[in-house]
Amino acid sequence: MSATPLLELRGIDKSFGPVQVLRNVDFSVTAGEVTALVGDNGAGKSTLVKCISGIYSIDSGEIVFDGRPVRINSPRDAAALGIEVVYQDLALCDNLDIVQNMFLGREKRSGLVLDEPTMEQMAAETLAGLSVRTVKSLRQHVSSLSGGQRQTVAIAKAVLWNSRVVILDEPTAALGVAQTAQVLELVRRLADNGLAVVLISHNMNDVFAVSDQIAMLYLGQMVAQLRTSEVTHAQVVELITAGRSGGLGLSGDNGDGANGTGTSGADRHDTPPTATTEPGVDR
Ligand SMILES: Nc1ncnc2c1ncn2[C@@H]1O[C@H](COP(=O)(O)OP(=O)(O)OP(=O)(O)O)[C@@H](O)[C@H]1O
Ligand SMILES: [Mg+2]
Repeated sequence: MSATPLLELRGIDKSFGPVQVLRNVDFSVTAGEVTALVGDNGAGKSTLVKCISGIYSIDSGEIVFDGRPVRINSPRDAAALGIEVVYQDLALCDNLDIVQNMFLGREKRSGLVLDEPTMEQMAAETLAGLSVRTVKSLRQHVSSLSGGQRQTVAIAKAVLWNSRVVILDEPTAALGVAQTAQVLELVRRLADNGLAVVLISHNMNDVFAVSDQIAMLYLGQMVAQLRTSEVTHAQVVELITAGRSGGLGLSGDNGDGANGTGTSGADRHDTPPTATTEPGVDR
């Protein structure tokens, strides 16, 4: 079994007016691991991330960080805990250079003026620490970077702040094969450096290539969070498209040797599997 989760969400509900988008969602993220968050379009992935990053406040449920219950009511609260999100599109400003982007809104100052040497050095060290060597100059505008390089800078920006949890929303969606491989390598390295990484992706190859755990959302419910080594491609696809998988005894009502690490609907993986309100997770 994996170590204690760094970030744990328990029974999260979130509605927008009459529309309930997240229902009793449990989700946990462990330091040193990549946790993939998967689900069909509209399943609630981005909403869940926005609850973690303080953009939305949750209606009910509990968030536990490093063993303590916490409230995350604003992005500032999330940042104070070391939770950073890399959003696909809004990540960087084209007309600024790499250093300016990495320190945007959190510039270092020396007296009244910007402390450019320190910022440049920190940016260089962060990129070097992530073994990023493809960027020619830290002073080039981000508009001149490739998609993969941009994503790399966005990720480096997120880890510059002693982050402990880094959430990546579809980091490879717009990338070609070689650049995807580069970014995935970086994602893996973040976890190997001790960060808790959440990877949202629609690409199952990416998910299976880098994740340690896979959390599967279906219509706003967490149907399962399992170790990647315990599921197949086909089972994950079935769980996120149908909310069930015949190959996994997730509801625990079929006695076929499922070991209880699976969760279904409202159940947690550390409670014994019981019948759930979520229909159809039997075989
Ligand atoms: N601010 C909002 N107000 C009302 N409904 C919303 C709001 N944000 C999201 N929703 C609804 O919540 C559901 C989940 O949306 P969300 O963006 O979290 O899905 P997602 O899993 O990220 O999908 P995708 O893979 O397409 O990015 C959708 O049905 C969406 O229409
Ligand atoms: Mg989304």
